[in-house]
Amino acid sequence: MRRVYLDNNATTEVAPEVMGAMLPCYREFYGNASSVHWYGQEAKALMDKARQQVATLLNAEPNEIVFTSGGTESDNLAIRGIVDSVPGTGKHIITSQIEHHAVLHTGQMLQKLGIKVTYVPVDAEGLVDPAEIEKSITPETVLISIMHSNNEIGAIQPVQEIGAIARARDIYFHTDAVQAAGKVPLDVEQLGVDLLSIAGHKFHAPKGVGALYIKKGTKIRSLLYGGAHERNRRAGTENIPHIVGLGKASELAMTEMENNTGRILELRNYFEGETFRRIPHTSLNGPRTRRIPNTANIRFEQVESEALLINLDLAGVACSTGSACASGSIEPSHVLTALGLPPEQAFSSIRFSLSKFTTREEIEYVLNLLPEMVGRLREMSHQHNKSFVMRGE
Ligand SMILES: Cc1ncc(COP(=O)(O)O)c(C=O)c1O
Repeated sequence: MRRVYLDNNATTEVAPEVMGAMLPCYREFYGNASSVHWYGQEAKALMDKARQQVATLLNAEPNEIVFTSGGTESDNLAIRGIVDSVPGTGKHIITSQIEHHAVLHTGQMLQKLGIKVTYVPVDAEGLVDPAEIEKSITPETVLISIMHSNNEIGAIQPVQEIGAIARARDIYFHTDAVQAAGKVPLDVEQLGVDLLSIAGHKFHAPKGVGALYIKKGTKIRSLLYGGAHERNRRAGTENIPHIVGLGKASELAMTEMENNTGRILELRNYFEGETFRRIPHTSLNGPRTRRIPNTANIRFEQVESEALLINLDLAGVACSTGSACASGSIEPSHVLTALGLPPEQAFSSIRFSLSKFTTREEIEYVLNLLPEMVGRLREMSHQHNKSFVMRGE
């Protein structure tokens, strides 16, 4: 059966160049980067190179990069690490209603510990209003955490404007850029952030590796207690093969981003345009333009998205109804709900996310399947509603 992968916001295929860079770390360069002998020094040199590659991707300095196990850990380290390191009581943080659960659930945990948390709303396109952030600031605010790009709808937030507000008030600013890294340029100076999270598996490095940018001079408490790794900011022997993979993926992103972005954007827009043209009563969730280039969250009115997802899966097409971590959930997506969609519309939405490996031919394959599938599911839903009404009479 034909297989088409359109779930790249969940995770991506590891690029062959990344695999190529990682393999020698298992076979030859398997030392512990903290060891003084030759093996250790070689591993350390590989890690230093990767740190430079990640720093270059973000326009940071190498010692501002801390390697982690992924996006979730980076978000936790940023938020909990800052809250724990700022002295005083009655602390307050500001975040948004459409953050990934790695941020939202961290906020909820902190609330149980007595930290105040404001979850600012978004508009109908999923964008945060910087004025709303400014309004929420109190003398106790220690941190603002607003994601760069949303994983479900791709909305790119006004990070630079929020960064300027945070800087003017001397408040730490973190952005979860897990879905932005490798897709759009990221410059920590320009964005005005103190902390920024990335995860390797969203841009063709393996799962289980990520990084947190921590601006020079920022005091942060480590989540883990142990050795003095990562300049006391993250204890534990570094995962050299994965870190090397993250470095290589960052380097590839730097060299390929411009070309890839143009091609992916064109394919995504073609897919979206043709879907709207060929299937009536379909529309886009999220902003049309302020959006990462690979993401299309489409609403198919009167279609149950789970049913469409299963039909697509049976035809070899992998996509998603929302974030991978929340799939299987019976609650409507918190992101789509925050846009103001009623549950029935949230439950008729599908996220298609492309990558540099997506081809035109794959997109045509999906476009040829969708109208018939959607038509059939709508027909079934009409029949079901009709018999329901008749039985009810
Ligand atoms: C925006 C965002 N933040 C954080 C994460 C968590 O990253 P990880 O899966 O590497 O822990 C994800 C993953 O889906 C994400 O999309």
